[in-house]
Amino acid sequence: MKERNKMGTAVVTGASSGLGEVFAEKLAKRGYDLKLVARRKDRLDSIAQKLESKYGIKATNLVADLGLDTDLEKVAEELRNDKSITLLINNAGTSTLASVTNTSVIKQKEMVNVNITAVMLLSNAILPSFLEKNEGTLINIASVLGFYSLPISAVYSGTKGFVVQYTKGLQEEVKGTNIRVQLVNPATTATELWEVGGVPLSALEQSTIMTAENCVDAILSGLDQGELLTHPSVNDQNLIDAYEDARIKLMQGSQSGQPAERYNKI
Ligand SMILES: NC(=O)c1ccc[n+]([C@@H]2O[C@H](COP(=O)([O-])OP(=O)(O)OC[C@H]3O[C@@H](n4cnc5c(N)ncnc54)[C@H](OP(=O)(O)O)[C@@H]3O)[C@@H](O)[C@H]2O)c1
Repeated sequence: MKERNKMGTAVVTGASSGLGEVFAEKLAKRGYDLKLVARRKDRLDSIAQKLESKYGIKATNLVADLGLDTDLEKVAEELRNDKSITLLINNAGTSTLASVTNTSVIKQKEMVNVNITAVMLLSNAILPSFLEKNEGTLINIASVLGFYSLPISAVYSGTKGFVVQYTKGLQEEVKGTNIRVQLVNPATTATELWEVGGVPLSALEQSTIMTAENCVDAILSGLDQGELLTHPSVNDQNLIDAYEDARIKLMQGSQSGQPAERYNKI
């Protein structure tokens, strides 16, 4: 009988390209068995084969369209049943970068389904077994556009804003347990997402673009350091602290139970 992998199994959604493909490689190198989720079977097959032979781990593919309820439920069922899972990375994401009036309802719903509903339902699926074992790691990939909107990102930013607040809520829920929930806000990273979104990387200021490899290394370094909030490209920690501090103070300032004085003029 195969000895149980002591690192357990890591599930990476969106493992067929970009950050997810790099996560798969880095986690295989750390000794995790893998379950890789995406739509493109050919890509998952070649990634899984490569990682199995290079690192001697077991890699299984779950070919699924996370925008479809039936496929999403199959993946969720797998997460509920496989007690070897120690790490879930909700990484799969999609974007259409255009004004709302120039984005079809189908594309808008696709962003909601993949970026919001799948993150929520896969987190739902894994948390009970993490809570039962009192261990496990959940990494949710949001974005700097989760706290900032462009004229071409209303829906995408909205979906990532969900991931930010949802993940913060989960962090509050698991406080006091051994479960780790890491929220990650990458900035521009060189992946296929930009082509998918309709903005080629060549149209961007090149100095703002990080490689997928550097981004994943930074995220895993943040994880190793016990961070709950990781901004891979923000060098000045004071900016992160000031933003978090202002967010908390604004919340506290809202608890007055009275209209603000500036609204007492009529
Ligand atoms: N690149 C950036 O600048 C950037 C910045 C901030 C945050 N992010 C976030 O980082 C995460 C990874 O994206 P990436 O940049 O690495 O882009 P990517 O290379 O396009 O990867 C996206 C992954 O998600 C999968 N995916 C998309 N739609 C799916 C669906 N309906 N069902 C199943 N899988 C689906 C894709 O696989 P298939 O096509 O094979 O299904 C692919 O593996 C996303 O959540 C993205 O929003 C990226």
